[in-house]
Amino acid sequence: MRQRRNPTCSHDGFHEPPPDATFNTGPVTPHSCSIAGMNEQPKPSTDSTTHFGFRDVPVGEKQKLVGEVFTSVARSYDLMNDLMSFGIHRLWKRHFVAISGVRRGDRVLDLAGGTGDIAALLKPVIGETGEVVVGDINAAMLGVGRDRLTDRGLVSGLRWTQLNAEALPFPDNSFDAVTMAFGLRNVTDKDKALADILRVLKPGGRLLVLEFSKVQSELFGKLYDFHSFKVLPKLGQLFAGDAHSYQYLAESIRKHPDQQTLKSMMERAGYGRVEVRNLSGGIVAIHRAYKL
Ligand SMILES: C[S@@+](CC[C@H](N)C(=O)[O-])C[C@H]1O[C@@H](n2cnc3c(N)ncnc32)[C@H](O)[C@@H]1O
Repeated sequence: MRQRRNPTCSHDGFHEPPPDATFNTGPVTPHSCSIAGMNEQPKPSTDSTTHFGFRDVPVGEKQKLVGEVFTSVARSYDLMNDLMSFGIHRLWKRHFVAISGVRRGDRVLDLAGGTGDIAALLKPVIGETGEVVVGDINAAMLGVGRDRLTDRGLVSGLRWTQLNAEALPFPDNSFDAVTMAFGLRNVTDKDKALADILRVLKPGGRLLVLEFSKVQSELFGKLYDFHSFKVLPKLGQLFAGDAHSYQYLAESIRKHPDQQTLKSMMERAGYGRVEVRNLSGGIVAIHRAYKL
């Protein structure tokens, strides 16, 4: 069996995390949530608190809690993605890359790219002359992703960097495109991340965000809620030995800004030509925005 490498070691191809990043291991703190409370309008967080699923937590704590979720689910993440979405996440991701406008020779930053799914799809598009920098805050997710891609022979033209999307360790104007699939939802200060992504994009470069969003049909929404709050935690318990992380997943989706709100946030951050595309009835949406 191939020896797994320690993703936190900079000598092993990973870059040191920024000093403000916190990385944690250990179980997720159990918390309760009722399906009845799910449709309540999110209470605005105060300056010192933010949402972690349906809970309000101190701003400084969210990153640690999110870290615990992904450290806990890293090994079972791919299997769970297939089970939870009936494999449809693969189609969403393929479509995401297909409409990204990324070209041969481009330099792309794939944020929250832990599993390497997006990087693997981008690699044939950018070819030998391009580069994908995979950035993620979580060492366990990065480790799993890099091992998977290495096992598939995908090594050259890929860099794996442990980072916080809120404080990117790159110079201004350094990427043709930034992709972020199912990551923005987990970031504590989304406005800060959007601003820093804009900074590192080259003029004319684009940001693509694939994220869970608001389901458009009421009836479909009810089915989806049942799946999210009744089925997902059970699947999590059964296949990952962790119901709470999948409860967090369902809750964090409900707390994430809907299509129009995220579009406005991008415009406020300074992006131009912001477009939104719903997939699967709004279960997920792709936002594409440009640095003009
Ligand atoms: C749901 S996974 C998505 C992984 C992959 N992009 C995919 O689509 O399969 C979310 C990822 O976001 C990462 N993440 C959470 N907060 C982050 C932050 N502030 N900066 C960078 N990555 C972050 C987590 O560590 C995790 O790997």
